[in-house]
Amino acid sequence: MALEVVVLAAGMGTRMKSAMPKVLHRIGGQPMLRRVLDAVTALNPAHVHVVVGMAREQVQAAFTGETLSWVVQSELKGTGHAVMQALPHFTPGNRVLVLIGDVPLITARSLQELIAATGTDEVGLMTAVMSDPQGLGRILRDARQRVIGIREQKDASPAERAINEINTGIMLVPVDRLAAWLPRLSPNNAQGEYYLTDIIALAVVDGVPVMTSAPVHVEETGGINDRVQLAAAERIWQRRTAEQLMRSGVTLLDPGRVDVRGRLIAGTDSVIDVNVVFEGDVTLGSGVRIGAHCYIRNATLDDNCVIEPNTFIDGAKIGKAAKVGPFARLRPGTELADRVHIGNFVETKKARIGVGAKANHLAYLGDTDIGGGSNIGAGTITCNYDGMNKHHTEIGSDVFVGSNTTLVAPVTLEDGAFVAAGSTITTRVPSQTLAVGRGRQRNIVGWVRPDQRKVEEDDD
Ligand code: UD1
Ligand code: MG
Repeated sequence: MALEVVVLAAGMGTRMKSAMPKVLHRIGGQPMLRRVLDAVTALNPAHVHVVVGMAREQVQAAFTGETLSWVVQSELKGTGHAVMQALPHFTPGNRVLVLIGDVPLITARSLQELIAATGTDEVGLMTAVMSDPQGLGRILRDARQRVIGIREQKDASPAERAINEINTGIMLVPVDRLAAWLPRLSPNNAQGEYYLTDIIALAVVDGVPVMTSAPVHVEETGGINDRVQLAAAERIWQRRTAEQLMRSGVTLLDPGRVDVRGRLIAGTDSVIDVNVVFEGDVTLGSGVRIGAHCYIRNATLDDNCVIEPNTFIDGAKIGKAAKVGPFARLRPGTELADRVHIGNFVETKKARIGVGAKANHLAYLGDTDIGGGSNIGAGTITCNYDGMNKHHTEIGSDVFVGSNTTLVAPVTLEDGAFVAAGSTITTRVPSQTLAVGRGRQRNIVGWVRPDQRKVEEDDD
């Protein structure tokens, strides 16, 4: 008997006040629906169905190329109606785990516990005890504590509203039972909807046991209806991520002030200071040090490299024991070999920089290869763009580029070349050659300052 999953995601999420469907709003940099689907992966289900309705093109477009079974619910008539639309896609004999698209913090572990608690011909219900159950379906139990039904807030009596065990919306039901119960639902309730929750009472009528299980942490089942709850869920997600990092051997100087918006893989003994944001796929080796206020996106930082504060890294590879920043900007296509130094106000783009090379201050290095051991002086600019096309600058190894040099690409500086400060270099500099590309200094004797001249005229 295989497991299938259906995720209910047809609602727009009116209270988000957004043109984007709710399940596409992000948690940890990923659409919340992705977070739900990730939790499900560990369960290895036979099929994952997603019920979409409002703005379904947008939702589907965000998951193109994935093996998901999309089910369209064109009119939103309730959670029971939503599962009804998916029914023809289920395989008889299987079990279906029903999940909610706007409950993104649910963990695989809690889902596994629900599955373990539920026999093959039983119904499993994930419930939670909440101090404030407002708005949620309440679990009704008999005198022997057996579940007998779920009452929605809007249909509940004052006594029922006092119950604080709630329906998380997550349940596990045999397909054949669903096929029998769903057609028996009716919309005779306060919201005029087909409630999936009404199948619980039908299970009791048919003598099918209803098992309950609690989430590992209550916060996992918090639904997101507005941006206040979205922000709260984001904090929970970030704290969870920070704890995983710390347990895997990374020191976070303040786990409340690091944000991982994507996936961060880190070796041991790396130290991350406050207000560092990681985006996309980032890999850190061991012993990496990242200073405060850095933004690091889609990057690989090898062992023992040091990123000084206020550095922006995007699409770069950084070698072992390299030093970057403070205030550096590494753009896509930057590859720093081991022990490279990139200092303050240096911008790199499509720049491959060899072992031990240095650009310590104020430079733009774009579309360039720089050999090992070269030294790029302050104020060096690769003029890579002629207004139409980008051109390459080739710098060999052990080259010295004096301060305030413009390298007009395409141009080559061969190994061991030496460029005098203030040069504009437009043609190849051969190996072991000094290039001086600047106007000669003239000293004009007897020259008088314009303002002094003016003062003398006034005296006349
Ligand atoms: C539902 C449960 C309630 C539970 C709560 C937990 C029902 C009737 N009630 O209430 O017991 O405590 O979730 O959060 O099930 N959806 C569709 N199609 C529809 C209606 C809803 O796909 O026609 C989707 C929504 O997009 C949403 C989910 O189902 O992701 C839950 O629907 P919602 O209307 O939010 O139900 P609640 O009133 O929160
Ligand atoms: Mg809801």
